[in-house]
Amino acid sequence: MQKIVLHPSGREVECAPGDTVLAALEKKGHALPNNCRAGACGECKVKVVSGQFDQGMVLDMALSQDDRKQGYGLMCMAKPLTEELVIEWGTEDARPKLFPPKENQRYIITEITQCTPKIKQLRMRPIGKAMRYWPGQYITLGDNPNTAPERCYSIANAPRQDGELLLQITQVPDGKTSSWVHQELAVGDMLKINGPYGTFIGDPATDTPVLCLAAGSGLAPLLSLTEAALRRDFRKPVTLMLSARTEADLYEKGLMSYWEAKHRNFNYKPTLTHESNPNYLNGLLPDVLPKTFKDLSEHSIFIAGSPGFVDACIEAVKKLGAPEERIFTEGYFDQAQPTIAPKSHLVS
Ligand code: FES
Repeated sequence: MQKIVLHPSGREVECAPGDTVLAALEKKGHALPNNCRAGACGECKVKVVSGQFDQGMVLDMALSQDDRKQGYGLMCMAKPLTEELVIEWGTEDARPKLFPPKENQRYIITEITQCTPKIKQLRMRPIGKAMRYWPGQYITLGDNPNTAPERCYSIANAPRQDGELLLQITQVPDGKTSSWVHQELAVGDMLKINGPYGTFIGDPATDTPVLCLAAGSGLAPLLSLTEAALRRDFRKPVTLMLSARTEADLYEKGLMSYWEAKHRNFNYKPTLTHESNPNYLNGLLPDVLPKTFKDLSEHSIFIAGSPGFVDACIEAVKKLGAPEERIFTEGYFDQAQPTIAPKSHLVS
């Protein structure tokens, strides 16, 4: 069996005969940006430090002669020829590098959907280059510092070839920016966004069952992470639990049904906190968890929602044995400012 060595961490990944480098990495849960998976877009371009590989048929616009001379290859088509292929991937501790955030990226709103009485979804397409981001990250959006200051919003979909982004925005009482989104924005408007930011991107090497816990529009980053995992054929069980006040506050029902029908390892379990309804779990998520899971010691847990919700869920999952190092959280503070990763953690 050939192996791929990730530089600089030294992590080794086996590559089965006939597998591309991208396929081998994904089988072991290591995320690598990709789009066309056919040597046409250049998204999966990576520097090969040592070893030989068969590049296969790729387009010159995706991998120029200059790129080739400098040792770059497209991993969606590359197959190792030598026993060992060393490629540049991630940080010293084998985490994926982040994309440097950019300011004032222009997007057009192509659709606005009222998801629940309080949550609207904006669907947007880039005018320029699509923003590169990891599932689970967020952007900032605002208009005028006085009337609609910059606020952080998670992206609700995994990266797509056309660069489309989905944002799910809750109308916050007295929230200037969310009021601007809910009351003033219309289809066809142009927005300037900044990003991506955040490190709620999950452990790419996760090979455990996954439990996602969300409240309200905290669902957004978990949709993005789940879409990416299912797309790369993640096989371990994935359970998504959404806490909502009433049935009217549940959204993405169609997508949840689709994922359940298409992926046998995906389970959706909503719970209602202010309505008794035999079709759903009933009660606060931390209270219904022990009735759903007896032991979470083997799980990776992703939690997103208000700080109070996140804290209560952390306590509940720890009581069920979830190990601290596999609990990942995103708490939404009203006026949170984006955090910028150090340079060594950014793609250069
Ligand atoms: S994913 Fe498009 S070239 Fe590899």
